[in-house]
Amino acid sequence: MTPLLRQVLSQVGGADPRINEVVTALITHLHAFVEEVRPTEEEWTAGLGFLIETGRMCTPERDEFVLLSDMLGLTSAVDDVNHEGPEGMTPSSVQGPFHSPAPARELGDWISHGPERDRAVPAVVHGRVTDCDGVPLAGAKVELWQASDAGLYDSQDEAQEPGNLRGLFTADADGRYWFRTIRPSSYPVPTDGTAGRLLHAIGRHPMRPAHLHYRVTAPGHRPLTTHVFLAGDPYLGSDAAFAVKEELIREARPRTGGWGMDGPYEEIEFDVRLVPLRPPPGVPPSARQP
Ligand code: BEZ
Ligand code: FE
Repeated sequence: MTPLLRQVLSQVGGADPRINEVVTALITHLHAFVEEVRPTEEEWTAGLGFLIETGRMCTPERDEFVLLSDMLGLTSAVDDVNHEGPEGMTPSSVQGPFHSPAPARELGDWISHGPERDRAVPAVVHGRVTDCDGVPLAGAKVELWQASDAGLYDSQDEAQEPGNLRGLFTADADGRYWFRTIRPSSYPVPTDGTAGRLLHAIGRHPMRPAHLHYRVTAPGHRPLTTHVFLAGDPYLGSDAAFAVKEELIREARPRTGGWGMDGPYEEIEFDVRLVPLRPPPGVPPSARQP
């Protein structure tokens, strides 16, 4: 440890031990970074300027810092350390910036009501929500959001009404859910800000593989935010947000007939296994909150 680092760390001593721990680690890693990289003063000023510009871009509708965290794999790293669990659970994945409350819909409803419905490949998405032992979770809430075949969410596309390609479903007595939609496409994350500039500078593309976002909740179980990715997508191995997990990839199988569909469509099956919440220590099972 350098004398300077020792001196800086000696001044950390606030009332909250967790803040002290986090700030100590942050300062230590940043000093190690400077020792390793030995930035020129111009480089350091440019780096600070990049962060200042990132902050200035942030609005209630757009958070460039979150995008930067996503693009550096940091959001996925934080997701990983917070969602360990038993074998067989459905893994979590990042929420991304395009979540907004979805309209409640009936099982089997279409969630696609914009112009994409006339041009894209129709799809039926279905599955079962259970616990990790396969016990169905009747009444589980399954919230969905996805981009269109043009790679745009309703909030980015004037041709879509708010709530298009979104839906909140209630699983039936057997934990089953299903809905009708269109096949999503791979799409680029916003590249008109500092995160996009960084991607370009380090020679990375901005693409995310085609996916649907899920948020699944059931009383007594850990809420799950995740994605289902479509097998065969060319960006599965290089997702700009580093959110792909093998267990979340599903085939979209070509089908004709069934599920109330008129012509050809694709079927995507995705079962979700939630982790039971542990009761707090010392609380008998009968006193658990639902
Ligand atoms: C998304 O899938 O919506 C997303 C996730 C991370 C960064 C940008 C977009
Ligand atoms: Fe997305």
